[in-house]
Amino acid sequence: MARRGITDTAHTFVAPLAPGHFPREGETGRRMIRSLTFHRRHEGDNPWAHPVEGLIAHVDLTAGEVTRLEDEGDVPVPMDDWHYEPTGPARTTLKPLEITQPEGPSFTVDGTFVRWENWSLRVGFNAQEGLVLNQITFRDGDEDRPVVHRASVPEMVVPYGDTAATRYWISYFDAGEYSLGKNANSLKLGCDCLGEITYFDAVVADDHGEPMPIPHAVCMHEEDYGILWKHTEPGEPSQVRRSRRLVLSYFATVGNYDYGFFWYFYLDGSIQMEAKATGIVFAGAAEPGTENPHAPEIAPGIIGPVHQHIFCARLDMSVDGPENSVEEENLVPIPTGPRNPYGNAFTYERVPLSRESEAVRDADSESGRRWYVTSADRRNAVGRPTAYQLTPMAGPRLMARPGSSAGDRAEFARHHLWVTAYDPAERFPAGDFPNQHAGDGIGRWVQADRPLTDTDVVLWHTFGPTHIPRPEDWPVMPVDYSGFWLKPHGFLDANPALDLPDWSARGHGGHSGHCGTDGGDGTGESADDCCH
Ligand code: CU
Repeated sequence: MARRGITDTAHTFVAPLAPGHFPREGETGRRMIRSLTFHRRHEGDNPWAHPVEGLIAHVDLTAGEVTRLEDEGDVPVPMDDWHYEPTGPARTTLKPLEITQPEGPSFTVDGTFVRWENWSLRVGFNAQEGLVLNQITFRDGDEDRPVVHRASVPEMVVPYGDTAATRYWISYFDAGEYSLGKNANSLKLGCDCLGEITYFDAVVADDHGEPMPIPHAVCMHEEDYGILWKHTEPGEPSQVRRSRRLVLSYFATVGNYDYGFFWYFYLDGSIQMEAKATGIVFAGAAEPGTENPHAPEIAPGIIGPVHQHIFCARLDMSVDGPENSVEEENLVPIPTGPRNPYGNAFTYERVPLSRESEAVRDADSESGRRWYVTSADRRNAVGRPTAYQLTPMAGPRLMARPGSSAGDRAEFARHHLWVTAYDPAERFPAGDFPNQHAGDGIGRWVQADRPLTDTDVVLWHTFGPTHIPRPEDWPVMPVDYSGFWLKPHGFLDANPALDLPDWSARGHGGHSGHCGTDGGDGTGESADDCCH
């Protein structure tokens, strides 16, 4: 540190980092971490802005000793001020935007049981997975029809694509090694969640097995979501219905990064899962102006190594009961000719994924690929099995090569979809204990090649951003969004939201002045102004 020009180390921060798996002499069988050093010039300084490049301490946690120290030579430690807390006055141009629900929210809560519009579910939480949603049903007539038995995001991995000794070994499993739920934030009204909020408290086990309460770990509220459906017929008043969604969310902070896990339930029967990645880019240091194919310079002397944030959702489906099958749908172009005489025609093809070996699949935006979970016995109005579809957001899969440490350890991230026959022992796609393991989990399970027809299926869906850091991600990163949708597709016999209220006829209590002043007499005449 002195050679690097740092003599005051009173506030230095040594980050305790999961070591990956590199069976070196002196590490095998020991409980290791690797430590990178971040300088703080004074108490309260942002350590992530002052990475000490090339100084790596390998630590045996049980013995409490440094087993090896690597010193990769001298790169200046960046010393610029980078604060993300305000250092000057905040802008004054944004006027208040208040969200009020004078009659309260539309949901009811009984313990962990939630009912909102057609939806019902049970809220769960644990140390490793964080938020878990159980027994999700959608009401159709007077029947609560099952959709998903259990939904969670039980793993995510953050592998780095850098060759430097400082970082080539990094592939954190933020759930399996750091415990997403254990790192959940206590959420604050008005900051994390706006409006009429209901919180759920969590209790998890801490590192010593003691109960650790996390007040306000999960936030639940309703959000306006623009327009759900609309049509205007010439000469007729517009018919418009507002979309609204129920939001269940939590945020976990794992070292420099912060992750939000948001589940959205819509009035049309759709479920959306959105992961929000924010926080501080894990930075290194370089001589200003150095070209590096693995680590763009994002601020003078500060590099942001390329990496991926790969989440894996576990969806224990139950579409009209536990006995389900899975199909893949692709768009199919047709060569111009006898089957396509005008060149305009195309079709689609659905193929069953009948065994686990057939159900290791990747997204394909060109073919609009989607996966269907169908009921074994229930049929819809047009005689087809009732179904929900998984709509993926096609993105890069794991970049680490098969046979590499991260490539084997994060095998689940090599494909966008895996489907398994339900086994209560299979809950974490990289295995129960990924810390320092050589690889485990889903790739092994599917070697059993269990049949997937009319059985209890579990979908494992991989998604997430691949991050080439940019200057705008510094010193704190605007949220990067990723996720997927589960949508009813022939689960219902028609749009389930035809009976939504026409707010235009209701007026807005006269105080907004934008939406007519008929005061809710239902004539809709002046409300017409509001609908254009
Ligand atoms: Cu990132």
